[in-house]
Formats: sequence, structure tokens, C-alpha cells
Amino acid sequence: MRMRKKPNLDRRLEAASDMMISDPTALRGNWGAPVALEIGCGKGRFIIGTAEADPDQRYIGIEREPGALIMAMEATKRAELGNVRFISQDASNLSEWFAPGEVKTLYLNFSDPWPKSRHAKRRLTYRSFLDMYAAVLGESGELRFKTDNAGLFEFSVEELKERGWEILYLTRDLHAENIPNIVTEYEERFSALGFKINMLRAIPPKNPPKAE
Ligand SMILES: C[S@@+](CC[C@H](N)C(=O)[O-])C[C@H]1O[C@@H](n2cnc3c(N)ncnc32)[C@H](O)[C@@H]1O
Repeated sequence: MRMRKKPNLDRRLEAASDMMISDPTALRGNWGAPVALEIGCGKGRFIIGTAEADPDQRYIGIEREPGALIMAMEATKRAELGNVRFISQDASNLSEWFAPGEVKTLYLNFSDPWPKSRHAKRRLTYRSFLDMYAAVLGESGELRFKTDNAGLFEFSVEELKERGWEILYLTRDLHAENIPNIVTEYEERFSALGFKINMLRAIPPKNPPKAE
């Protein structure tokens, strides 16, 4: 998400800094109960709505774009939500922040599709990311993925199968299903344009394949 530089961004980040976990590495192995994570939480509508409905679960949003993250942090502060906090870094460092099994649910919503094949490694469902998710999710965690992008969805299904994940549920038209769904900012925008929303839930392999 490329954003115009927001006026006073540094001042606003400072004012909302109590919403931020500035040194997640220091918490590795010490999160207490397993957390729910959203990678690329953008402006935060999904994580805030999900956390409001589930107040006993701790939610962590990861977002590398400060111009989006500030909106999520300010909205969390306004809502006085004690169970949502944020990491303002790139998710490729995830395994430095969470020990195996410390993540219960990992959400990817409308991840950047990186459609050129030479950029496949940047997709958040590329196998190196999936292997890292498998490690932090441990034996009882679950990945949930939504996207309007059919190409990214089919790629992700293939990557999951290739890396030994079990797909528990899959739909190529989420809004036609009668299941609870918190709509993200991108989801609202793309479904209004007529795109169908794909969604899957998957669990990591018991015996992960060796990293390539
Ligand atoms: C297309 S937006 C979707 C935002 C939101 N999830 C939604 O559905 O409205 C993707 C977001 O993921 C963030 N992102 C992409 N790759 C990331 C990474 N490796 N680490 C952290 N954030 C990332 C981008 O900065 C962007 O805000």
C-alpha cells in the first residue's frame, strides 16, 4: 500500500506509541498465551473488528507501512482496546519474534499479489513464508487467507499443498457463504467493483518438508 506522506506522521506515531510493540524480539518465548496475528493489517479495520468480538484473545497487527499503521493505532486507541497491539516492521522477521507454537491464528488479508513471476518470492504465501508460519503456528495453529486476486489465490493453494499443509476450508465466493466475516478495507473496495472474494483456512504439516 503506497501512501502519501501524512502530515505530522512522526508526531502522531509518537502520540500512539503505547499501541506499538517496539522490541518484539525481547518477547520471543514469553508471550504467555498464544496470540492471533494479522500480517499486513493496513488501516486496521479487520483486526479491530475481530478483536472487539473476541476480547479475551490478544491480537497483534504487523504492518510495514507507517502511513497505514498510524490509522490502525489511532483507531485502536480511540476504541480503548486493550487486546490489540502492533509491530511496525516487515513480517519476514516473524520467527525472531515468536517461538514455535506462540501463534494461534495467522491472518493474511488481501496481501499484495506481486503478479510478475520474478517477484513470486515476495508473495506472503511463497513457500519460505509458509515454512516460517508453520514454525510459529506449531501443532495447533491455523492460517486464514482472503484475497480478491484469483491468480494469487491459486498460487497460494499450490504452495500450501506443495509444503504439506492441510486445507480445512476453501471458497472462491466468500460473500455467497453464510459464515461470519469481518470485511477489510480492501475487501469492501474490491467486492464493490464486482470481484469475488476467495478465502481458505489451512493447518501446517505435522512433519514439515525441508526448506529448499
Ligand atoms: C493490499 S494491502 C491490504 C490491507 C488490509 N489487510 C486490507 O485488507 O484492507 C496489503 C498491506 O500489507 C502490507 N505488507 C505487505 N507486505 C508486508 C510485509 N512483508 N510485512 C508487513 N506488512 C506488509 C502493506 O504495507 C499493505 O498495507
